[in-house]
Amino acid sequence: MVFQKFTNNSYSLLWLPSLLILLSSASVNGVEQKKFYIVFLGAHPVSREGSIESHLNILSAVKQSHVEAKESIVYSYTKSFNAFAAKLSEDEANKLSAMNEVLSVLSNKYRKLHTTRSWDFIGLPLTAKRKLKQESDTIVAILDTGITPEFRSFKDDGLGPPPAKWRGTCDKYVNFSGCNNKIVGAKYFKLDGRSESSDILSPIDVSGHGTHTASTAAGNLVPNASLFGLANGTARGAVPSARLAIYKVCWKEDGCADMDVLAGFEAAIDDGADVISVSLGGENSNYLQDSISIGAFHAMRKGIITVASAGNDGPTMATVENHAPWVVTVAASGIDRDFHSTVELGTRTNVSGEGVNTFSPKQKQYPLINGMDAARNSSSKDNAKFCAKGSLEPNKVKGKIVYCKFRTWSTEAVVKAVGGIGTIVEYDEFQDSPETFMAPATFVNRSTGQIITNYIQSTRSPSAVIHKSHEVKIPAPFVASFSSRGPNSGSQHVLKPDVTAPGISILASFTLRHSITSIEGDTQFSVFTLMSGTSMACPHISGIAAYVKSFHPNWTPAAIRSAIMTTAKPMSQKVNKEAEFAFGAGLVNPTRALNPGLIYDMDEFGYVQFLCHEGYNGSTLSILIGSPVNCTSLLPGIGHDAINYPSMQLSVKRNTESTIGVFRRRVTNVGPGPTMYNATIKSPKGVEITVKPTSLIFYHTLQKKNFKVVVKAKSMASMKIVSGSLIWRNPRYIVRSPIVIYSS
Ligand SMILES: *[C@@H]1O[C@H](CO)[C@@H](O)[C@H](O)[C@H]1NC(C)=O
Ligand SMILES: *[C@@H]1O[C@H](CO)[C@@H](O)[C@H](O)[C@H]1NC(C)=O
Ligand SMILES: *[C@@H]1O[C@H](CO)[C@@H](O)[C@H](O)[C@H]1NC(C)=O
Ligand SMILES: *[C@@H]1O[C@H](CO)[C@@H](O)[C@H](O)[C@H]1NC(C)=O
Ligand SMILES: *[C@@H]1O[C@H](CO)[C@@H](O)[C@H](O)[C@H]1NC(C)=O
Ligand SMILES: *[C@@H]1O[C@H](CO)[C@@H](O)[C@H](O)[C@H]1NC(C)=O
Ligand SMILES: *[C@@H]1O[C@H](CO)[C@@H](O)[C@H](O)[C@H]1NC(C)=O
Ligand SMILES: *[C@@H]1O[C@H](CO)[C@@H](O)[C@H](O)[C@H]1NC(C)=O
Ligand SMILES: *[C@@H]1O[C@H](CO)[C@@H](O)[C@H](O)[C@H]1NC(C)=O
Repeated sequence: MVFQKFTNNSYSLLWLPSLLILLSSASVNGVEQKKFYIVFLGAHPVSREGSIESHLNILSAVKQSHVEAKESIVYSYTKSFNAFAAKLSEDEANKLSAMNEVLSVLSNKYRKLHTTRSWDFIGLPLTAKRKLKQESDTIVAILDTGITPEFRSFKDDGLGPPPAKWRGTCDKYVNFSGCNNKIVGAKYFKLDGRSESSDILSPIDVSGHGTHTASTAAGNLVPNASLFGLANGTARGAVPSARLAIYKVCWKEDGCADMDVLAGFEAAIDDGADVISVSLGGENSNYLQDSISIGAFHAMRKGIITVASAGNDGPTMATVENHAPWVVTVAASGIDRDFHSTVELGTRTNVSGEGVNTFSPKQKQYPLINGMDAARNSSSKDNAKFCAKGSLEPNKVKGKIVYCKFRTWSTEAVVKAVGGIGTIVEYDEFQDSPETFMAPATFVNRSTGQIITNYIQSTRSPSAVIHKSHEVKIPAPFVASFSSRGPNSGSQHVLKPDVTAPGISILASFTLRHSITSIEGDTQFSVFTLMSGTSMACPHISGIAAYVKSFHPNWTPAAIRSAIMTTAKPMSQKVNKEAEFAFGAGLVNPTRALNPGLIYDMDEFGYVQFLCHEGYNGSTLSILIGSPVNCTSLLPGIGHDAINYPSMQLSVKRNTESTIGVFRRRVTNVGPGPTMYNATIKSPKGVEITVKPTSLIFYHTLQKKNFKVVVKAKSMASMKIVSGSLIWRNPRYIVRSPIVIYSS
């Protein structure tokens, strides 16, 4: 058995700037000789007791004694998979991985974490049709930082007891008074045993991230929600009647440990969740070394769909995370709303800045100064231009608005700390995710900055005022610059991300345990707040997956994903030049996803064929399915990618005449029959795409039909992406698959 060593990078929740400061990847300190490992074993013994006993026996073989083994083991996974987590030296880990009984030893890494108007924007109005009974039988599991149970988003008015299939439990914990009929389960996992002074060993949410994602997926309707009047409206989740199961696996200081994430998956699967939502991630390319990929595979085997965020490392290419084909990978888009602040200069000229500024000015005008002119001394002038900490002379900025160039986030906190009344920051990059300020402030672009500096120079006593932000309408959708991009580092045959959902300035429930920016000195506390990140996009799709499931309780995870992808609204390469690598199949369209016409379905066996085709060693696949696979004896997956995926991707080799990909697909008619679908192909320049047959006739519902798509592409310049598509159309349905051709 190969010992699989991990780099010690940490995982994080996938959200953005200000709050990231507080959660930023606290990796394990390297002081300890012993680290945590997850040891995967073969098939399950017959009983849970038998499993635990066998874990101890195996571990005893590398420890001095049974007692020592007992002390070092921290968790036994006995339900979906057979594994244990324990504290080991590298030598012990090596010895274990050489044992026959042991499939694989993974070192425990720490991952990181990566909302009203958004529903109307994507077309899921308050009045959308619902199957309320089925919706209330649907359980969305959230693996995150916990929950704030007392908020209105999680009241259980009108909800009966959880569905009979629910096996989860909920105890009373510190600062957590227990569950209700909305939050039907709550657990936490902190297997490393390290206590954190800033977090609480309880499902209670200290950071606000988990509360935000849970309320986005399945929060109740809360009228008149806003952030100090901004983004006001009715806050709600996709499925307001669905239940929530909370698994706290991410912690304020340490982030999200693989062993906790796996324990969360195992519990959610065993408890009977329908959808698992994971707004967290970390770099990984191997599907057998990634806790989210492994957990999601076991969920899929039980018919549970896993939805995960794509990551916040865009717009750099090949940064997409959570890219296993059995996971729905979600990119973040902007909606048609942005927040601007008017800056009124003393000359009565108005200019406009961006960002979320909730403060209303108390005076008509304030004196205005350029940070450069407020330097402490001549040597701090360079830093004062950026209003860097320690560079400003308090006497010069007291009571004034200060103009600074951007260098780091939260410049306004520096200005406030030395007595400044407001901050105008010149910031010319990536203005598509508005920053929330802890004190009066706004971001202006370079040309506006020029107007302001010219004005400051042109008058003896310059003055200005920054008004509270207001909403403006902007063109949308577009994929956020921060949203991670393809291509998929795990497989060049699977297009990732899959689909796009709103993830910029989403209003949802938060926490009152700290201010909305969590920057020291911030006085803004709010039940609702605006957050941005693929973390916020993910629960939109988790909720929509639950919505689709409430209409089609028997659909497989692959079928639900297919419905969401083939009905998505196509987006444009004119807006995001990375095309499908930015937006996947496009912007989700929830009501159309209920009736996709055709689906690209797949079961566990389909994924195993794919993995064999990708070159995974059949014996290591037992991590996913509990016993070794003989890839040679398996029916080979067919075609270029050996997977029945709703999108197609062809990587073109450079310096070759042409590259050909033959994609084999099978669609299932989920609409009424008899019916006939005709194909429409869009081929980009330099690419020839054909489909055979060009018509599919179905006599009845659930009938399946095979077809093949041949993509022939000429050599392309490197880093070029072109997009085509295949559409199956009948008078009622449009079933669209993106086809991406790129050269790396
Ligand atoms: C697969 O793994 C087994 C067990 O480690 C090893 O014996 C075998 O050689 C591997 N096969 C391939 C094709 O790498
Ligand atoms: C949490 O519970 C502890 C113990 O009951 C209590 O002392 C503390 O004040 C509570 N903290 C919060 C933030 O509610
Ligand atoms: C709506 O919220 C605002 C601010 O939170 C409050 O002043 C107002 O009274 C509320 N309106 C209603 C109808 O509840
Ligand atoms: C938001 O508040 C404004 C001003 O109070 C009001 O005109 C508007 O109707 C509100 N919007 C919603 C969706 O409630
Ligand atoms: C500038 O903006 C303020 C606040 O919105 C507004 O009251 C004022 O009339 C505007 N002035 C001009 C000259 O447009
Ligand atoms: C700078 O911002 C102003 C105000 O929002 C806008 O009108 C202008 O087009 C922007 N300039 C550039 C170069 O983006
Ligand atoms: C200038 O200010 C900096 C702090 O920004 C300080 O460290 C430095 O000693 C000062 N230099 C002089 C000459 O006063
Ligand atoms: C796998 O299957 C092939 C073909 O059926 C067979 O020749 C081979 O012996 C099998 N390998 C193992 C390890 O069972
Ligand atoms: C599909 O193609 C057939 C044959 O070309 C044609 O008769 C039929 O009207 C087409 N159907 C649709 C929905 O376009």
